[in-house]
Amino acid sequence: MAKAKKAFRILAIESSCDESAAAVLDESAGLLAHELYSQVELHRIYGGVVPELASRDHVRRLLPLVRRALDQAATTPGQLAGVAFTAGPGLIGALLTGAALARSLAYAWGVPAVGVHHLEGHLLAPLLEPEPPPFPHVALLVSGGHTQLIEVGGIGQYRVLGDTRDDAAGEAFDKTAKLLGLPYPGGPELARLAQGGTPGAFQYPRPMLGAGLELSFSGLKTAVLHSLRGKELTAKLRADVARGVEEAIVGTLSVKAVRALDATGLDALVVSGGVSANQSLRAALTEAVGQRGGRVYYPRLEFCTDNAAMIAVAGLARLKAGEHDGLAIHSRAQWPLETLTMVPLQHSNPPRTLPA
Ligand code: KG4
Ligand code: ZN
Repeated sequence: MAKAKKAFRILAIESSCDESAAAVLDESAGLLAHELYSQVELHRIYGGVVPELASRDHVRRLLPLVRRALDQAATTPGQLAGVAFTAGPGLIGALLTGAALARSLAYAWGVPAVGVHHLEGHLLAPLLEPEPPPFPHVALLVSGGHTQLIEVGGIGQYRVLGDTRDDAAGEAFDKTAKLLGLPYPGGPELARLAQGGTPGAFQYPRPMLGAGLELSFSGLKTAVLHSLRGKELTAKLRADVARGVEEAIVGTLSVKAVRALDATGLDALVVSGGVSANQSLRAALTEAVGQRGGRVYYPRLEFCTDNAAMIAVAGLARLKAGEHDGLAIHSRAQWPLETLTMVPLQHSNPPRTLPA
């Protein structure tokens, strides 16, 4: 068992996909450090993440990132009350590298370690902002692998209201971007291209818009292929298609998010995950939710995509509540969010970041 410590401070490690990251979070002083290394360049020539290369690169990057984070936070291992790491869902080899390092460090330092659900990290990332969202709220979780509408009652209280039947929103951005010849990861590149496109030039399908909270994005690829077939790929055509894709995804997500607020009677919407960095999505949701008297909460841009600060928020709440893993490592490629345990409310207000 850890000795009683004055300030509850933890180290967190993220390695679920192609970002290696480490962060130090203190319950009273806030976020003291967050370090990140993106493997984007390593995977770009393959047009997507190569799992084996990702794992090998995490092994190279993680320990130096941990050292840098501890240095930046002016923190010695003796000041840490625990170590949090991403236990899933994600690429299993990549997850294991972070888990093995976190588990070993915690063992050596004589403190508990806790495995965090990556999506819980994304969901709780807005708690690092100066004005954190209230509980309960509805969350729109939009990343490369997931697109879900979730009713969030508190930390660990997640009810999935709607899910994608096929591709995730980020996946739809990435796959259509690839058809337009954009480099991986295509989402941000497509969004940039869309800025110069003509609104409404292409009307792409928005399936399941009529009713319910389920989503589907796989039809977009075929629709985009159709609009490119037999045509010269001019700058104007690419920009117009990109605009059409972004409009279809943003339009669908806005309708569904507002419908989820209506269905639950809630006013606060949290938007997180990589796609929440999309400016058109932010503008559309702010407008739509504002019109019905509600408010939208986002993580700052650097915490929309994968990072260790969000893992630290979830990990601190769970370690503080006395939760921790045994010595065995249980990383999970799949892990349903709804199986997580609830964290009592007195522990559910992790500290916010110190002003920059
Ligand atoms: O949450 P994240 O970093 O990783 C996963 O857990 O999946 O999300 C990555 C996804 C990618 O599909 C990427 O293209 C997308 O988020 N993304 C964006 C933007 N920034 C990142 N999609 C659209 N517009 C953006 N600005
Ligand atoms: Zn993620």
